[in-house]
Amino acid sequence: MLDRRVLLALPLALVACKRGASAEPAVAPARSLKALAPFPVGVCAKSPQFEDPAWVDLVTAQFSQLTPEWEMKMEYILGDGPGRFRFDGPDAIAAFARHHGLRLHGHTLIWYAQGEQAFAGLDRARFTTAFDRYIATVAGRYRGQVVSWDVVNEPVTDEGSELRDCHWSRMLGADGYMIRAFHKARAADPDAVLFLNDYNLENTPRKGATFLKLVERLMKTGAPIGGIGTQSHLDIRIPAGQIRAFFRDAASLGLPIHVSELDASLRSEDRVDLRSPGQRIEQQTARVGELAEAFMALPERQRFAFSVWGARDTDSWLRQGERDNGQDQPLLFDGAGRPGPAYAAVAAAFA
Ligand code: XIL
Repeated sequence: MLDRRVLLALPLALVACKRGASAEPAVAPARSLKALAPFPVGVCAKSPQFEDPAWVDLVTAQFSQLTPEWEMKMEYILGDGPGRFRFDGPDAIAAFARHHGLRLHGHTLIWYAQGEQAFAGLDRARFTTAFDRYIATVAGRYRGQVVSWDVVNEPVTDEGSELRDCHWSRMLGADGYMIRAFHKARAADPDAVLFLNDYNLENTPRKGATFLKLVERLMKTGAPIGGIGTQSHLDIRIPAGQIRAFFRDAASLGLPIHVSELDASLRSEDRVDLRSPGQRIEQQTARVGELAEAFMALPERQRFAFSVWGARDTDSWLRQGERDNGQDQPLLFDGAGRPGPAYAAVAAAFA
């Protein structure tokens, strides 16, 4: 007896598989992702994309939530120099979301990767005042416009057993800067769901475990963490079951979970990668399907949103600059907006 999901996925998969085989335009999937999913389906956005009608059509048809890809980050907002805030980009994204009835997820207030220059040379008192002022100003401005924030992004090292040492931790303490950030964000926006967000939590089990222990430890101090963000930039070569295991452990904390930045590159950094195109698609479909199914298996109240890090393959950060070999298909839709194999895997899991 074929599982209902397989039966539903077959036409979607056929449409998706056509993508590689022939040029005729694949028929748009019968039901959109946001119609299939019993929770918000998100995508990242940059305001210049609003000038591309094909992007607008695809995103408004398929998605119900936006995450600013770059313009709500400190590097953009403080881009005009110390003490000056630049909000044209994030305001444009908030306006687009409002106009199209899309939820808006704020990304991100405090990130190890940004802010070192802007906060350089300040003594502890001034640093702390500037830290508090930044969060109060930004989270305060978008109060009532965002439903949630990645308050702290990527706190755990790549190796996975420790917290990153960064300008925030050196001045305010390893846990201290995160605890402070969550309290200041809560003070600025009493309603937003406040997330701790990180990557490779499924790919590197040690990192996933350290991240979950960190969430528990911070919550025990009273930090108002309201959700867990797992970026899910998947390494499709990981063994089956690893994604499911992380979600089982993550679910045990009882918090809403956001798959916040899904992409599943077909490439690897290895100098020699003997996988055939078919093997790569097979791995991608299996791991993306496992992720979507693990998310679906969560209790309804823990399914915050399922977000992908780009609408079309050509929108992906993995297709920018020297990373790009012109062939990667990390997302759900190809450059022409046609559903691919990863779309079929997600749609089948959502059905
Ligand atoms: C990336 C964007 O996609 C790029 O366009 C930008 O140049 C750098 O940041 N984890 C995150 C995201 O939380 O903010 C990053 O986004 C990708 C990794």
